[in-house]
Amino acid sequence: MAKSITSLKVDMDKYHESFQVMMKYGLQSRENGYADDARDLVTKLHFDSSRELRVLSIGSGNGNVDQHFINALVGKYSKIYYCVIEPVEKPVQEFKTLVKSNRWDNVTFDFRLQGINPYLDKGGKTDKYDFIHACNSVYEFRDPGQDVPDLYNMVNTGGLLFLRTSSGGWEQCRANLSKCYTKYGESTVFPGAGMVKDILTKVVPNPSMESLHRSVLMTITECFNEKSEDGNKLLDFIHQVLNFRSSVPVDDIPNLLKYLRDECCEIVGEDIMLDAGEDDILVRKE
Ligand SMILES: C[S@@+](CC[C@H](N)C(=O)[O-])C[C@H]1O[C@@H](n2cnc3c(N)ncnc32)[C@H](O)[C@@H]1O
Repeated sequence: MAKSITSLKVDMDKYHESFQVMMKYGLQSRENGYADDARDLVTKLHFDSSRELRVLSIGSGNGNVDQHFINALVGKYSKIYYCVIEPVEKPVQEFKTLVKSNRWDNVTFDFRLQGINPYLDKGGKTDKYDFIHACNSVYEFRDPGQDVPDLYNMVNTGGLLFLRTSSGGWEQCRANLSKCYTKYGESTVFPGAGMVKDILTKVVPNPSMESLHRSVLMTITECFNEKSEDGNKLLDFIHQVLNFRSSVPVDDIPNLLKYLRDECCEIVGEDIMLDAGEDDILVRKE
C-alpha cells in the first residue's frame, strides 16, 4: 500500500508563506511576460465589446496575476462581471485592496470565499462565462478529469478556457512524488501540463487547443542545506508537502532529493537550478 504524507494544503498560511519564498528564489520572473501575454489573450476574445463580459477566475490568490487579465480586459470591454473563486481569506482581502487601488470602475467583482468544488457542487456548473481561467490552481481541483470538462461546458460558445499549469522539471518532480505517495489516504496523480492536455484532448478537438511554454528558472541550491529555513520552505512548496523533511519517511528523503537534483534540475556553476516552467493552455469553445 502506498504511504500517506501530509499535503501542504492542510495549512494554507504555510502554503502562502512558502509560495512567497518560491517567488523570492526565482518564481517571480515568470511574471515578466504576463502583461503582454494577457493582452494577446484578450485579443482572442471576439465578443461584442458593448455587452457585459463574464469572467470566472479560479484560485486567484492575491490577484497579482489576475490584474494583468483585468488591465487587458478593461481596455476592451465596457462592462465586466468578474467572479473570483478563492478559499483562503488573507489573499482575498489583499485582492480586494488591489481592486481599491485600481481604476477598474467598469468591473463588478464577486468574491466567493470557497474552493472550486463546493462552487461547482452547489449549482456553479449551470453558470455560463465568456472567459474562465485557472492559473496554477488545477492542482487544487478534487478531480481534474471531471472538473476540467465541467469548466469547459460552462464556457459560452466563442469563449475561452485558459489553464496555466506547471511543466518542465517541477512537473516531473511532483509526478514522481505522486507515484510514491498518497495524500489524505487517496491516490493522487499530479495534474501538470501533460495531464491537463490529455484531459482536454478528450473533450475538445486538438486544433482548437493552443499551448505556450514559459521556462522559469529558480535557484534552489538552498533546498539541499538541511538547516536552511528558506530551503525547507522551498522543498515544501515544490513537493506540496507540509514540513517535507519531517513528514516524508526519513529513508526516502535522500532518493527524493537525488531525483530532484539529478532528474529535474540543471547544475550551473555552484547553483542548482530548477525549471519551474509552466504551460499556458488555451481552448476555444466552438
Ligand atoms: C499556486 S496559487 C496560484 C495563485 C495565482 N493564481 C497565481 O497564478 O499565482 C494556488 C491558489 O489556489 C487557491 N486554492 C486552494 N485550494 C483551492 C480550491 N479548492 N479551489 C480553488 N482555489 C484553491 C490557493 O489558495 C491559491 O491562492
